[in-house]
Amino acid sequence: MSQSPAENDQPIRDELAATDDTPHHDRPAASTRSADCHSARDSHSGNDTTPPLDKSGKRVREMFRQIAPRYDTMNHLLSLNIDKWWRRKAVDRLKIKGDAPILDMCCGTGDLAIEIADRAGSDVRVIGSDFCHAMLEIARDKEASRVIDTSGGAGRPTIPFFEADSMQLPFTDDRFQCVTVAFGLRNIVDTDQGIREMVRVCRPGGQVMVLEFSQPTLPVLKQLYGFYFRAILPKVGQWLARNDKSAYEYLPASVGQFPCGEALASRLRDAGLDSVEFHPLTLGVATIYIGTKPGKPSAAPEKTATDQEADQPLKMVAQ
Ligand SMILES: C[S@@+](CC[C@H](N)C(=O)[O-])C[C@H]1O[C@@H](n2cnc3c(N)ncnc32)[C@H](O)[C@@H]1O
Repeated sequence: MSQSPAENDQPIRDELAATDDTPHHDRPAASTRSADCHSARDSHSGNDTTPPLDKSGKRVREMFRQIAPRYDTMNHLLSLNIDKWWRRKAVDRLKIKGDAPILDMCCGTGDLAIEIADRAGSDVRVIGSDFCHAMLEIARDKEASRVIDTSGGAGRPTIPFFEADSMQLPFTDDRFQCVTVAFGLRNIVDTDQGIREMVRVCRPGGQVMVLEFSQPTLPVLKQLYGFYFRAILPKVGQWLARNDKSAYEYLPASVGQFPCGEALASRLRDAGLDSVEFHPLTLGVATIYIGTKPGKPSAAPEKTATDQEADQPLKMVAQ
C-alpha cells in the first residue's frame, strides 16, 4: 500500500514492528498466548453487546467501491506505513519453488500480489482476485504502470487480476503452490467458507497464508490500540475519505469481532491444514498465520475457464 518512506525508514519501522518470531503452533485452543483474542466460531464474538456486523457481499463490495480511490493513501497514513513491512514479513514466510502459480485472494489494490510477484521470479505466475471492481481497477493500473520488459531479460510475468468472490473461487482444486490473503478474510461473510476455498485451490504440499489484524495482548498497548482504533481512526478515516463514515467504523468493529491468534489458527487446522503457525507482528497488532495442505500433488485436475484464461501468455515486467 505504500510507495512512500517505506524503504528509508526501515530501522525505525523494524523497531516499531518488534516481531515475535517464535512460531506459535499446534497449541490447544485454550492457549494463554491468545487469551485476549476472540475465539468465536463465527464472526461475532457473542460475548459483547455489539450487534453482528453486516458482512453481506453487497455491503462489503459497496464499502470498498466507495473507499477504493483513497484506499492506499489511507492505509499508509492510518497504519503509519507499517502495513507494507507486514506484507514483506508475510511474503518472507512463503516457500516459493518450481513454477506452480500463486493466488492472492481479496487482493484489493494489489500490493501483496505485487510484493509476491516481485520476489517469486520469472517462472511463477501470481494471480490476484477480488470481488470489488473498483479495487481491481487500481491494482491493474498499478501493474500497468510497471515497465514492460521487452529485452527477454530477467523480468517477471504481469499479474492477471480476476473479479471473483472468495466464497466460491473460480479455480480448480489443488492448483496453487501458495494461496494468500491480506486483511481480506475478516471481511468475508463466512470465514470458514473463505478458508475452505483457500485450502481447496491450494496444492497438496502448498501453503495457505493469512495476514490479518489481531489484538495486542499487552495491557497498556491494548488500551492505546483500542482507543486509536475506536476513537481516532474512524474520525480520521471519515475526514480523509470524505464519504463513507461507516467504512472506518466497520474496521475496528470487524477486527474486534474477528478471531485471532490460536482461535484463528485452530480454524485453519479444522479446514485441513497441517503445521499451522502464527506469528504476531508489531506486538500483536497484526498476525501472520501459515499452514500446509497435507498430501502429495496428484494428476492435474481439469481446468476451469478462469484457469485457462490465467494460463494465457503474459507480458513480462522488468524487475
Ligand atoms: C481491506 S481490503 C485488503 C486488500 C489487500 N489484500 C490489501 O492487503 O490491502 C479487503 C478486500 O477484500 C475484498 N473482499 C471482501 N470480501 C470478499 C469476497 N467475499 N470475495 C472477494 N473479495 C472480497 C474487498 O473487496 C477488499 O478489496
